Order: sequence, then structure tokens, then C-alpha cells
Amino acid sequence: MPKINDFDSEAQYYDLLEKKNQPSFNLIVDFLEKLFKKNNSKTILDVTCGTGAQAIPLAKRGFQTVGSDIGKKLLTIARRKSKGVSNIKLVHGDVRYTKFGKFDAVISMLNSLGYLNKKDFRKALININSNLKEDGLLVFDNTNKTCLDIGNFTADKIIDTAGEDNRTKFVRFCKSKYDKKSGIITTKWETVIQRNSQKPLEASGIWKRQTYTIEDLKSIFRQTGFQLENVYDRSLEKFEDRKSFSYLIVARKTSALGK
Ligand SMILES: C[S@@+](CC[C@H](N)C(=O)[O-])C[C@H]1O[C@@H](n2cnc3c(N)ncnc32)[C@H](O)[C@@H]1O
Repeated sequence: MPKINDFDSEAQYYDLLEKKNQPSFNLIVDFLEKLFKKNNSKTILDVTCGTGAQAIPLAKRGFQTVGSDIGKKLLTIARRKSKGVSNIKLVHGDVRYTKFGKFDAVISMLNSLGYLNKKDFRKALININSNLKEDGLLVFDNTNKTCLDIGNFTADKIIDTAGEDNRTKFVRFCKSKYDKKSGIITTKWETVIQRNSQKPLEASGIWKRQTYTIEDLKSIFRQTGFQLENVYDRSLEKFEDRKSFSYLIVARKTSALGK
């Protein structure tokens, strides 16, 4: 049976498949560093840190960082990678429920909140609100429903990622469909990983991602105690609603009630 949204069971290949060791990932961290310095945000909570792609470099750049994830194996990898980094704590938690303290900013990158259904997304925002100090910042990214609705979507089977790293070859195929009414992208993925000339490891699964328009987000923010502050294209270029496939959102906590 395919597993749904289960990054943890593939934890040992996560960094390989997501090419987490590539320098391009630093662009987002550079952006976050600049934003947090401008806003005097010193304490950062990454609620879906995975193997630490953003949390570890932010800690290295001097922010007091807590990284949390529901995936225990992913956290084990993050702990290994952050050995010797002093201002990071990595703790197991669920973005929908866990209370970590009060932070200047919360981040959730690489579509992580998109893997939650609409009800859980709301729960997550209310819980994030309660983990933020007054006027705290929330930064996350997701796929732009407006852009999908006007037909910017490919349903073909594609090679989503492929390469070779440290004598391990890898390829992931993805075939997606988009349901305009629900805003859900369903992706069937298959990976093949081969180390040296050993027998290849094959795995498959399904991702379901909930997309939102900017107007959807504004409405959900009003109900969960946030206000939209800025939208960027996820490439960090100028956001264009009909052209930008993904966005990066900066929102600010406006009320503590989350109602
Ligand atoms: C696409 S990965 C992104 C991880 C990391 N931010 C990165 O850029 O590599 C999504 C992450 O969300 C985590 N996740 C999914 N549901 C969660 C939940 N309810 N609470 C906390 N983490 C969750 C997954 O375990 C996974 O690590």
C-alpha cells in the first residue's frame, strides 16, 4: 500500500532526494536572516524542521532556534547534522497541538503546511499563534491555487528529481492530478535508489497537498489571529498571482485569541 505524506519512513533518503546539500537552499535562509534581523526577531521556531534544512543554518547564523517535527527519524538526522551547534534545540512535536513557548517568529518551509488538510491547517495556525509573542512573524510557503486554476498544471508523469551523490544514484518520478474544486494536488511518486551496484531500493507513495489562493489565506488569517504582511514568489522574485506557481508568505500575529 502506498504511504501518504510519510516523509519519516524515507528519512534516510530525504536529504538525497530533496538535494538538501545544494547551495541554492541558502537563498531562503539568506532571506529569512534578513527578514528576522529587520524585525529584531531573535528566537525562531521551525514547526516542520524535517532534517533541519532551515533550522540548522539559522542557528549557525546566531538565532536561538527550536526545530520540531512529527517525524522522529527525521529529527534523529537533524540532531546528527547539528552536533556542535550551540543555539539549537530539536524536539518532537505536532504543529497542530504542541506548545513550545513564545517565539519572535515561526517558520514552516517547503510546502509543509500544504500537506495538512484544511481543518488541520486551521488548527496549525491557531497553535502557531499561541507559540508566537505579540506581533510575532509567521513565514511559510505553499502552492498558489489561483495559478493552478487558470491551467498552469502538468498532469504528465515527470522526473521530479534525479542525480548521483556519494556513489548513490537516485530518481523520483511523479504523476500529479489537480482537483480545482477542492484545490488538492494528488501526486503519486516512485523512487529508485541504487548504491554502487547493489540491488536498487524501490518505494512509492502518495502526497496530497492542499492549495490556497491569497484571498483564501487572508480569510483564514482573519479567523486565526494573523494578517498578511507580504507575499513573494517562492523563488523570491516578485509575486504575480496568475504566474507564480508557489508563494512565500510573511504574516504577522494580530491577536492572541486565534478566533
Ligand atoms: C516537505 S517536508 C519539509 C521539511 C523541511 N522544512 C525542509 O525544508 O526540508 C514536510 C515536513 O513536515 C513534517 N510534518 C508533517 N506533518 C506534521 C505535523 N503535524 N507536525 C509537525 N511536522 C509535520 C514532515 O514530517 C516533514 O518533515
